[in-house]
Amino acid sequence: MRVFVTGVNGYIGAVLAPYLMERGLELVGLDTGYYRDGWLYSDDRRLPVTPLTLNKDLRHVSAADLEGCEALVHLAELSNDPLGQNNPRVTHDINHHGSMRLARLARELGMRRFIYTSSCSVYGAGSGEVLDESAPLRPQTAYAQCKVLVERDLAQLAGPQFAPVCLRNATAFGPSPRMRFDIVLNDLCALAWTTRRIAMTSDGSPWRPLVHVEDICEAIYRCLVAPEEAIRGQVFNVGQDSENYRIRELAQIVAAEFPGCEVSMGPASGDQRSYRVSFARIHRELPGFTCRFSAHHGARQLRALFERIQMSPETYAFRAFTRLRQLTYLQATAQIDADFYWR
Ligand SMILES: NC(=O)c1ccc[n+]([C@@H]2O[C@H](COP(=O)([O-])OP(=O)(O)OC[C@H]3O[C@@H](n4cnc5c(N)ncnc54)[C@H](O)[C@@H]3O)[C@@H](O)[C@H]2O)c1
Repeated sequence: MRVFVTGVNGYIGAVLAPYLMERGLELVGLDTGYYRDGWLYSDDRRLPVTPLTLNKDLRHVSAADLEGCEALVHLAELSNDPLGQNNPRVTHDINHHGSMRLARLARELGMRRFIYTSSCSVYGAGSGEVLDESAPLRPQTAYAQCKVLVERDLAQLAGPQFAPVCLRNATAFGPSPRMRFDIVLNDLCALAWTTRRIAMTSDGSPWRPLVHVEDICEAIYRCLVAPEEAIRGQVFNVGQDSENYRIRELAQIVAAEFPGCEVSMGPASGDQRSYRVSFARIHRELPGFTCRFSAHHGARQLRALFERIQMSPETYAFRAFTRLRQLTYLQATAQIDADFYWR
């Protein structure tokens, strides 16, 4: 099967590409390269790392680009809450309109599967109750609103010839060559490594579900190889029930893996996002899917990685590993225009 993967040079894409290629799938990638300056490490276990990749904006994908592909995995978006809030207009343009244009094109061309990487942030503010896929959606940000809109519009496209599926990923963690330090566990581990101190600015009480980046890859792989009926029009939370944590528990898990690291808490914060998620459906209904990694595993892997590459505070602070910082830099230096196209 030949699979088209957008956002292949992102945090998840850089792990997903070798993951799928090792499992015998042929890939064509696409990425505009917003974070092209950032590559944290190389790993000879993971060759070949890079599929043939079109260096192109998602909004300009043509039928010719998709030729010969049977399935599409769509990762390329402005992909976290702060980034979306930075520019809601462009976020809607890329994340909602760009994604739906791509999905309609895929359907017109007779591609069979469209795997959309949604997010548990669609559940928004909660009071700590456990949410399954039927829970009301309360998106708090432009990023999360776009996820809800794409999910809604994709459902309309499902039919006998076209099987879209929405994967509501928990917050990812774990090593990727295209590292991100703006996601909670990766950030806490980098803080612990570089400063031996985690000083929380809040009381750490909100709940967050987490999932290892390779477990997201496994969910995507399983959606590519499952019978179409198992995925057509489906929505799955991606993660495992044991990986719902309060942020302060995560800080303790990290401190336990990084000897000598101290943790201190701050006052209760104004950030209302708090949710626990049920992952029963994906384990029950997506054939072959299981998760392999916990937050403990992730913290241990990250410590081993930071040791191996002797990660410096400068590397941790480098703009290309923190999405908002990188896009702000590209705008401030007039490398991308007001619509986030490269000049
Ligand atoms: N990482 C997480 O914690 C997480 C959690 C839930 C959902 N997701 C979703 O998974 C997907 C991938 O996430 P990620 O963490 O790898 O994000 P990322 O920001 O690391 O990667 C996204 C990639 O898409 C590319 N891209 C962005 N806009 C583009 C455009 N207009 N045209 C072409 N390429 C473009 C970027 O250059 C980047 O390489 C996103 O849709 C994200 O919302 C991620």
